[in-house]
Amino acid sequence: MKIQNRTFIISGGASGLGKSTALEIIKAGGYVAILDLSDEETGRALEKELGPLAKFFHCNVLKTESIAKAVQGTVDWIKETGKPLGGVVPAAGIGLPAATLDRNGNAFDMDQVDLVLGVNLRGTIDLIRQSVEHLAKVDPEGPDGERGVVIMVSSSSAFDGQYGQVSYAASKGAVASMALPMSRDLAKYGIRVVAIAPSLFTTALTAMMSDRVRKSLEASFIFPNRAGNPPEFSFLVKHIIENPMFNGAVIRIDGASRLSKL
Ligand SMILES: NC(=O)c1ccc[n+]([C@@H]2O[C@H](COP(=O)([O-])OP(=O)(O)OC[C@H]3O[C@@H](n4cnc5c(N)ncnc54)[C@H](O)[C@@H]3O)[C@@H](O)[C@H]2O)c1
Repeated sequence: MKIQNRTFIISGGASGLGKSTALEIIKAGGYVAILDLSDEETGRALEKELGPLAKFFHCNVLKTESIAKAVQGTVDWIKETGKPLGGVVPAAGIGLPAATLDRNGNAFDMDQVDLVLGVNLRGTIDLIRQSVEHLAKVDPEGPDGERGVVIMVSSSSAFDGQYGQVSYAASKGAVASMALPMSRDLAKYGIRVVAIAPSLFTTALTAMMSDRVRKSLEASFIFPNRAGNPPEFSFLVKHIIENPMFNGAVIRIDGASRLSKL
């Protein structure tokens, strides 16, 4: 599918992998609606930085009404620009490490579990579900009758989750599991669904890690022997949008790293 003159919704687009995806899409002539928890001031600064093909919508993916408002805002913006919806990249995500039992043998807090699952899983499903209602109505493109693409963000943790990552791994494993059934659900509308599973990429999320954790993660890379950079992630997003044979898959992008137990 062509990126040029189409609009893509990106949650978590104010930072890291989401922001890099926004930059890549804009470079290819696409429009981006950035849905993020960041405040309005940060959002306006981001619009200024990214230029006229980007629009910021304050959004908390934990809340259905907040997503509804941002998606409606995107639909209204599309009426002004005339650039139809082309896809959604739900990249908003958080990681709150906690061991199942702490040093004193106390079980982890369910509020933390609910928060991680809420943002990474429920937020992903809710944004997709609300976006594809609109995507299913755009005019089909090309000989395949394609309408758009959903690109979810899973993680290496879906397969080799580390110590303290039960909630995060559960959320990302669930995201990976959704790629195939969702692609089956949406095939009749000409909508593809793919999940990308990155290993360590250098972003604000991973900047919070201790040196010990970072070094251990970097040591797990086979080649290249380093963490990924956001443009290497967004380059894959671009390719998935443009190549119609990517569907129903979970694609690892990880320099052959397999996470150790830590
Ligand atoms: N960086 C990595 O190594 C890595 C590896 C695997 C998967 N991931 C996943 O990639 C995605 C992007 O992560 P990143 O590394 O770019 O992190 P990041 O912290 O740089 O960006 C995440 C963005 O999500 C936004 N966000 C958080 N909670 C939100 C909410 N409730 N509603 C709306 N927006 C919200 C934040 O404001 C932020 O802008 C996440 O889903 C993350 O789990 C990252």
